[in-house]
Amino acid sequence: MATILITGGTGMIGKALTKALLDKGHQVIVMTRDKGNRKPATGSLSFASWNIKDQTIDKEAVSKAEYIIHLAGAGVAEKRWTTKRKQEIVNSRVKSGELLVKALNEIPNNVKAVICASAIGWYGPDPSVPNPHPFTEEAPANDDFLGSTCKRWEESIEPVTAAGKRLVKLRIGIVLGKEGGALKEFRTPLRLFRTATILGSGRQVVSWIHIGDLVQLFITAIENEDMHGVYNAVAPHPVSNKELIMQLASAQKQRFFLPVYIPSFVLKIALGEMSIEVLKSATVSSSKIQQAGFSFQYPFIKEALGDLLK
Ligand SMILES: NC(=O)c1ccc[n+]([C@@H]2O[C@H](COP(=O)([O-])OP(=O)(O)OC[C@H]3O[C@@H](n4cnc5c(N)ncnc54)[C@H](OP(=O)(O)O)[C@@H]3O)[C@@H](O)[C@H]2O)c1
Repeated sequence: MATILITGGTGMIGKALTKALLDKGHQVIVMTRDKGNRKPATGSLSFASWNIKDQTIDKEAVSKAEYIIHLAGAGVAEKRWTTKRKQEIVNSRVKSGELLVKALNEIPNNVKAVICASAIGWYGPDPSVPNPHPFTEEAPANDDFLGSTCKRWEESIEPVTAAGKRLVKLRIGIVLGKEGGALKEFRTPLRLFRTATILGSGRQVVSWIHIGDLVQLFITAIENEDMHGVYNAVAPHPVSNKELIMQLASAQKQRFFLPVYIPSFVLKIALGEMSIEVLKSATVSSSKIQQAGFSFQYPFIKEALGDLLK
């Protein structure tokens, strides 16, 4: 069994991954900024701290780790994108990547591989909707805030390969999970107001992934030594925003609901620059990870939502 260090392990993906790794008998060290998230060690789970601004990190945790999963980053959809917030979104990813590179170069360690989160914000928008040619891993980064953030994020961790570490970068789609994240946002209007809130035209494609498949993908990236470089972490069957919301209403067995279209200009006023992301259509391909042998438990939205809402 291995010792796995997870940065940002206190978040939505990190919690689900930690549970799955502990269930498999691994030791997990959660690296946190220590703002109330650090808890006493229990069994195979322990906590360590780092300070990205000061570029300091728990040395013992790094020396114990055999794998590092790097998830840390300020929430992209949490707050309005002011200049300050955008800087935090970038720095929390780029400076933390740089800190890990520095730590792996300076602290004697046995780390075999680093698995780094990235996002499908790298891509898009689709040149046409529907887009018959989904984005593959070779596509260049989009020339907008999230595209350039993802590029700098991936570049910041790349030097670990020069230190002899296997590096896998997962460009993650919209994660659908029971605890928080996008699904909670989509469900709230349905539950509270019986409205199916469709954003913009609703035609924009959402490349999503079930949290269970994403957790398995991280575990596969640890276990499969043939995996190197970038992989899209999205289900094989993306859907339009409208289809997602309608499937959600149906999965909730809600027979009476009112479809409400929120016009693009309202979203622009409400969300500012972030509205670009919710209105952006990005059809992303899962072919590479499937060719690497990964099989999705939830390739279709209907079954994914059925499982998450049961
Ligand atoms: N969820 C999605 O749909 C999705 C989609 C694509 C990509 N991703 C990426 O996958 C990663 C994990 O996602 P998630 O949904 O689990 O995120 P999350 O729930 O927001 O958790 C991220 C973790 O990062 C740490 N963090 C937050 N702000 C930070 C800051 N300013 N500086 C350093 N660390 C900070 C926090 O840990 P501590 O407070 O313990 O330090 C937090 O628990 C993120 O980088 C995210 O961008 C997520």
